[in-house]
Amino acid sequence: MQERLLKKVVSKKKLDGYLKEFFDTYYEDIPPFIHESLEEDYLYGLGETFAPCYVMQFYDEYQLMLNKYNLYLQFIELLKHNHPDLSNMTILDVGGGLIPSLGRRLAKDAKHVMVVDRWLTDKNNPTNLEVIKKEITCASELPKADIVIGFMPCEVTNILVEHACKTDADFLLETCGCVHDDSAMYHDPMYYWYAVRRFYENRKKYIEEMVASSNLGECIELDSYKNIPYTIYTNKTK
Ligand SMILES: C[S@@+](CC[C@H](N)C(=O)[O-])C[C@H]1O[C@@H](n2cnc3c(N)ncnc32)[C@H](O)[C@@H]1O
Repeated sequence: MQERLLKKVVSKKKLDGYLKEFFDTYYEDIPPFIHESLEEDYLYGLGETFAPCYVMQFYDEYQLMLNKYNLYLQFIELLKHNHPDLSNMTILDVGGGLIPSLGRRLAKDAKHVMVVDRWLTDKNNPTNLEVIKKEITCASELPKADIVIGFMPCEVTNILVEHACKTDADFLLETCGCVHDDSAMYHDPMYYWYAVRRFYENRKKYIEEMVASSNLGECIELDSYKNIPYTIYTNKTK
């Protein structure tokens, strides 16, 4: 049988019901483009072992994903390699999503979790999860935390690392596959892969340089972890 992200009991009919409930619950929080992309992609997990981030958040709301493909669980496992006891820790999740799925899971173990994102619901969150709904720019003030994390935080990747370095907070970052650059090059297929590689190399260099000039010790890079497909960066204090 084909491998898939969702538990065996989850059928299309069940997903239709969950999607309706999801839209009813979060109606005011969901911007039109996310509404559309959920309607288009909500069946993804029936045939794939991976799904776009808003679809994963929808699935996680109802615990529909198999543990072995649940990337939030794998990210938490990785975080716990360096921080086995989170009970006294404050965590800041940058670009934490419309539904703060990772933040909600971490709030079970951590003292306090703050999630910042431009699209973010304040419904159904645990009391030790603080929602900071705002557009992040390089001029934004972000709160201090013991650990700064980001799970595919797109354009706020570099801001996350800068903030961790400035505030002496350990960080764990799972980058995403996107390339946030609409330079003319991308429209020329001859140069596309060259430009993508250059984007990844520049990001890596930027992150390594930021960490090298901070008190955060060594910058560690992992190509992937279990089913997490993209490059992960973290720091290791000597
Ligand atoms: C790929 S999604 C990942 C969401 C979440 N971490 C997850 O994996 O479920 C990237 C998130 O970063 C947020 N984001 C990107 N740029 C942002 C900005 N400038 N200000 C605030 N949020 C931003 C988006 O709104 C989106 O929720």
